[in-house]
Amino acid sequence: MSPAPLRVALLGAGTVGREVARALLERGSELTAADGAPLVLAGIAVRDVDRARAAGLPAELLTDAPAHLVAAPDTDVVVELMGGDEPARTLIAASLGAGKAVVTANKHVIAHHGPELEALARRSGSALRFEAAVGGGIPVLGPLAADLAANRVTAVRGIVNGTTNYILTAMTDEGRGYDEVLAAAQSAGYAEADPSGDVEGHDAVNKLVILARLAFGSWLAPSAVTTIGTDGPGAGSPGITGVGAADIAAAAKGGRVIKLIASARRGDGDDAPTASVLPTAVAADSPFGRTAGVLNRIEIDAEPAGTGVGRTEAMTRRSSSVRAVARSLTTLPAARAASMSAARMPTCSRSRRR
Ligand SMILES: NC(=O)c1ccc[n+]([C@@H]2O[C@H](COP(=O)([O-])OP(=O)(O)OC[C@H]3O[C@@H](n4cnc5c(N)ncnc54)[C@H](OP(=O)(O)O)[C@@H]3O)[C@@H](O)[C@H]2O)c1
Repeated sequence: MSPAPLRVALLGAGTVGREVARALLERGSELTAADGAPLVLAGIAVRDVDRARAAGLPAELLTDAPAHLVAAPDTDVVVELMGGDEPARTLIAASLGAGKAVVTANKHVIAHHGPELEALARRSGSALRFEAAVGGGIPVLGPLAADLAANRVTAVRGIVNGTTNYILTAMTDEGRGYDEVLAAAQSAGYAEADPSGDVEGHDAVNKLVILARLAFGSWLAPSAVTTIGTDGPGAGSPGITGVGAADIAAAAKGGRVIKLIASARRGDGDDAPTASVLPTAVAADSPFGRTAGVLNRIEIDAEPAGTGVGRTEAMTRRSSSVRAVARSLTTLPAARAASMSAARMPTCSRSRRR
């Protein structure tokens, strides 16, 4: 006998949520949880129900009361795709507190409230999955959590923000200034009207905090990540906002290009990891140097257990955030059981461009 369906509540039906809703509605019978339970879309919370209905989402599933959807006794899994801080944090906490599994792509809420939410998940025995928060860009968090579990990861670094990499690549390749390229990126839809989250490094910081959690097993405070360099390209300004044509030219003379590198290194002994998101000159023919446009790349240094030999894993593959959410849902082990009583599962918390 096949397991009873897993009822999924979707909080948010914007760029990502709308596609997740379509996937569940159109391919629900193919998408099953790890125990074979079919995934069924039970409700969709948005702010503007009329707009969502006009966009083709089924009226009978729509609500503007996300808290009710979370509290509904027949909701098994909550997929949070609203973004931002509140009410996302409170809704995730309420879901976990009620023993319901949560899947989220919200980098901000995980980077800023991860320790508290993870502790709540542990206490209630529910699953908190955030692969999609970073995994939309590079499906690296699964491997970090699983394949590398036996190894001691010593450092993780990457180009993790597509918007800034697009801007730096265009400045380098086309010899145009920062302001001009940013304006072009905004009109092309690669940068938001308020680009500060990307260009000042906040988005990359959030991703780095999540990567570091998976790599080292500990949480970094976002405020502890250095985003303003004291020397080097763009020194004195956050993220890439201080990088100018002179920095690009100086790097080019030495065969280098400037990339916004997010980097975290495990501390010695009990020391906290050190972390930064800084514009950095790298060799133009290195893997990072060749990572152009909106592409992302992450490298991991690890000591394989027992051998003491260093190793670097690098991944450049990209997948959509919708696929990352689907992957989280379909690999939820015993999520339904966790939502029906409240005891057992260990928290299973691991891993686009933005
Ligand atoms: N876009 C990407 O490519 C991407 C990639 C990876 C991760 N992410 C992350 O995924 C999350 C969602 O991103 P997105 O681009 O899909 O966002 P979005 O397009 O802005 O959509 C947000 C959705 O949440 C709903 N919402 C927001 N606040 C709400 C509230 N208080 N009550 C009810 N509904 C509310 C909105 O409803 P209304 O439409 O009615 O306002 C909308 O449907 C974010 O955390 C983002 O960082 C996005």
